[in-house]
Amino acid sequence: MTRAGSGRQRDTQRGNEGGARAGRRAPGQPSASLPPGLSAADLARAKAAAASLSGPDFDDDDWTAADGGGERDSLTDVPGGVRLQKVLAAAGVGSRRYCEELIGEGRVEVDGEVVRRFGARVDPQHQIIRVDGKRIPVREDLVYIALNKPAGVLTTMSDSRGRPTMADLLGDTAERLFHVGRLDLDTEGLMLLMNDGDLAHRLAHPRFGVPKTYLAEVSGPVPKDLGRQLITGVELEDGVASADRFRVVERLGTRALVEITLHEGRKHIVKRMLATAGHPVSRLVRTQVGPVTLGSLRPGTTRRLSTKEVGELYAAVGL
Ligand code: URA
Repeated sequence: MTRAGSGRQRDTQRGNEGGARAGRRAPGQPSASLPPGLSAADLARAKAAAASLSGPDFDDDDWTAADGGGERDSLTDVPGGVRLQKVLAAAGVGSRRYCEELIGEGRVEVDGEVVRRFGARVDPQHQIIRVDGKRIPVREDLVYIALNKPAGVLTTMSDSRGRPTMADLLGDTAERLFHVGRLDLDTEGLMLLMNDGDLAHRLAHPRFGVPKTYLAEVSGPVPKDLGRQLITGVELEDGVASADRFRVVERLGTRALVEITLHEGRKHIVKRMLATAGHPVSRLVRTQVGPVTLGSLRPGTTRRLSTKEVGELYAAVGL
């Protein structure tokens, strides 16, 4: 889909005609026409309210940056595109009215440019939209799923030996999904799956160092300095591995429950680190990947990630 062309032309024309319109001010000229005590944001809100009275199909071509009290943006309207506030509302940012307020307040960017027109038409398939600098997942064809993998399920989508795989838990969507990294057959907990290849790739790539947190049941008793040892680094056969954080959750006599966070992705890394430190793991559960937590998701079930979670995942890998 081309995004340039007639839209830009129309925008330019509108800019040229605009000087003759009542209430329009030249760039840089102070907003002398605003009544005392009324801020540009107030005016923008009033416009949004008035627009909503005219129903969803009001002619938003009459709304301009100068009308809204903000700086004129030079974003090209995408021919046949969708109104920005509609895209934001559909992504779960809030009601259309609220999204219009965000736009009026200059908090919304499209492809790196602040857009203050309520009716700007955008292409959610190809454009990057941010609110307060945070990317909003706006593509409706993209799905982001958290799965609580039970022990005994392979982190693959098929198995030549007929063992249970994640596909058995995911149903119809399974084929199209990438899974972010792997867990051992006997490890339980949070797996992220998505059809957003770019994000999945980055989340799994060691370069981005996305932290993962695990709860491990280990043989005890656990000495006071175990955390220090793990954070300083443990020598493994393929090099030193270190934890970012460590804490003892519970002491259970000859066993202990510990929580460890690390941004490593090497095979069996948690089990190897703890075994090397003298505390072999008898049960391992992943509870967090980046900003996404397992929470109360029941084993063997899935949930869709929220807009906020996906936005935070993007931020975690610089997208
Ligand atoms: N570390 C392990 O030892 N196993 C896993 O499944 C994940 C991290």
